[in-house]
Amino acid sequence: MKSELYEVPENFLLRQRLRRLRNRESLRLLFSETRLSSSDLMYPIFVDQRLSEVEEISSMPGIFRHPLSRLKDEIGEVVDLKIPAVLLFGLPKRKDPLGSEAYATDGVVQEAVREVKKIAPHLTVATDVCLCQYTDHGHCGVIRGGKVENDETVGLLSRIAVSHAEAGADMVGPSAMMDGQVGAIRRALDERGLDETLIMSYSAKFASGFYGPFREAAESAPQWGDRRSYQMDPSNRREAMREIEMDVGEGADVVMVKPALSYLDLIREARARVSLPLAAYNVSGEYSMIKAAVQRGWLEEKRIVLEVLIAIKRAGANIIITYFAKDTAEWLREDN
Ligand code: PBG
Repeated sequence: MKSELYEVPENFLLRQRLRRLRNRESLRLLFSETRLSSSDLMYPIFVDQRLSEVEEISSMPGIFRHPLSRLKDEIGEVVDLKIPAVLLFGLPKRKDPLGSEAYATDGVVQEAVREVKKIAPHLTVATDVCLCQYTDHGHCGVIRGGKVENDETVGLLSRIAVSHAEAGADMVGPSAMMDGQVGAIRRALDERGLDETLIMSYSAKFASGFYGPFREAAESAPQWGDRRSYQMDPSNRREAMREIEMDVGEGADVVMVKPALSYLDLIREARARVSLPLAAYNVSGEYSMIKAAVQRGWLEEKRIVLEVLIAIKRAGANIIITYFAKDTAEWLREDN
């Protein structure tokens, strides 16, 4: 075959027709390499011990803070949409320097775990294990001499994890970026016979501007300084792999890269390096950016969200933690 204007090499025309793969919807389905399913998703839920009614988070339209007494509808929807897991965050009734409400038996997350387990015994309940929502200074650990002290903090994180597991949590998610937190939590759980509790470690968690809306939602912004002495520098790829490998060595069951969208290369690399299940956290700022553009009519929500989530999965994530989980599960259900 020859074109009028110039010659195209014969073998190219005869053999290299990738468009054959895209010609019809049924072919596109057949050749689709990555599929998103509601079973990939984990849905974060904010529980606020001070509330009696749900309250929308202004920077995260469609996401609410829930009082303990009003979890039934939310959990019912999650179960109905076949989302296998939720991730609980708590806003306590009071804060103090040591974040003692974080490991109180009647703390907000401990109560929420019991409540969710009552509503939906088979739903997997994961919890965020950190101090920042519970300390009056807003840092993720104990302050000594103006600094976040590592080992004392690890002791408190272990207490938090044990108290969540004792309340019935299936999975604890240490997110404070303290060294040794995973190993210490594993030991503390095992010593108390809680050896079935999984640890999902926020292994490579970056000091990110994309957590902004979450900090408003959880009232957890640091009152002074920032989190750069414990969360990672966004420029570091090798160090992220070191964090992940260390957590594997300490006994993590699931490792995580967070945030997701600016770190897809690290999701890819982590997937290639370790054989554990890998979670990616599509964080609050990534949610709010899309919501804001959608509200202005600049982006088409369903299309954008499905594109973003498929990218996270294609990069190698097995679990996607996302505020879009309910919408996504609903869209996937409609499309099938
Ligand atoms: C607690 C925690 C944070 C997020 C998850 N766990 C906030 C932070 O580290 O400042 C962020 C989640 C999000 O932005 O959606 N340490």
